[in-house]
Amino acid sequence: MTHPTLTADDVLDTLNDSEFLLDPQAFYARMRHEMPLIYIPETQSWMVFRYDDVQRILTDFNTFSSKVKFPAEQKDFTQSMNFMDPPRHKSVRALAQQSFTLKRVEAMAPRIEALAKELLSKALEQPNFDFILEYANPLPVIVIAEIMGVPTEGHAHFTDLSNRVVTMDQSAIAEMAAYFRTLIEHRQQNPSDDLVSALVQAYEQDNDRLSEQELVDFCIVLLVAGNETTAKLIGNSMLCLRDFPAIRAELIAHPEKIDDFIEEVLRLRAPVQNIVRIVKVETELHGQTLRVGDTVEIFMGSANLDETQFEDPQQIKFGRKGRHLAFGNGIHFCLGAPLARLEAVIAIRHMLGRVPNLRIQDDADLMPVPSYAFHGLVSLPVTY
Ligand code: HEM
Repeated sequence: MTHPTLTADDVLDTLNDSEFLLDPQAFYARMRHEMPLIYIPETQSWMVFRYDDVQRILTDFNTFSSKVKFPAEQKDFTQSMNFMDPPRHKSVRALAQQSFTLKRVEAMAPRIEALAKELLSKALEQPNFDFILEYANPLPVIVIAEIMGVPTEGHAHFTDLSNRVVTMDQSAIAEMAAYFRTLIEHRQQNPSDDLVSALVQAYEQDNDRLSEQELVDFCIVLLVAGNETTAKLIGNSMLCLRDFPAIRAELIAHPEKIDDFIEEVLRLRAPVQNIVRIVKVETELHGQTLRVGDTVEIFMGSANLDETQFEDPQQIKFGRKGRHLAFGNGIHFCLGAPLARLEAVIAIRHMLGRVPNLRIQDDADLMPVPSYAFHGLVSLPVTY
């Protein structure tokens, strides 16, 4: 069957439709086949859907810049590494990596286990509960707050603040920046063994390489980048368990396969579906000219389902060849990927080990996050 040609308005309408937001796969397939590149006048941006194109744009930082524009009044959270190009990006990321090490992340495993246990015990006091609000959301917020040395008693406020920073809410950005300035000052006087103290130390030993603003903005990005995203990953795992009952049974029998399962959830239902680059050098794509200053929206969520890269892309297969782009690729590859993976694997392993029949309520009205840049649920009523 042939479809009528899609217009830019049709594409934008679909991208904002809640049916698409819950299950974007079919529409992405259509875009990859019929319109791998489309210009959307309303958002003044190009949209890109195929794996090879997304991969090229992610890795070609000489042509596609990460320096997005900010509102004139915004001062904080403009010097974060995800908005930088080389050579600055390289120096800042190297310094960040010195402190946010794999060792620091791996050392958190027992604490993540204990937190998963504590949160689930509390949730299981009721016969039905909200998996997102009570389990998936608090876990990453508490973990990153503890790694950084941010007191966790106000984690509900921090979750809200963090979610607002991600949407570039100016008052939330200012509040979080002020918070970290005070915390940094405090750690300068009273160092501890947390991440903010380690960053302050690295900053003092090497302060020609990192400005005070860069230090504050790094704290902000660490605190916000992993919260909603990891919570969505844990929630999206429940959607995949619902869609693939045989996989659920296999994971209960073989919990060691949960690492591979989480990779497939990342591929099939990537929490970050789309990111933006700005054209730095005029270039061609699918016969079109992308001019300097043009915005390009790249859909990793679609690239991850591209049948030229992944055999039977709609299926969950353990040990797949081919690399998903849920954490990006190239120089900006997600700094928090090891932590996100660890948290999701522990959260799902603990849940399946303890309440193997925990499932989405039959009559649940699933509400997607209202943005096509993300994929996940606002709430998820479960029962057992
Ligand atoms: C499932 C959870 C997560 C997903 C899907 C995710 C996704 C991504 C993606 C797609 C990028 C690339 C952005 C770009 O190229 O412009 C990125 C970068 C980044 N992520 Fe994550 N992320 C997750 C968790 C985390 C966590 C837990 C942290 C930290 C605690 C984190 C910190 C960062 C940082 C600092 C960057 C910027 C790296 C750079 O620019 O060099 N992320 N993430």
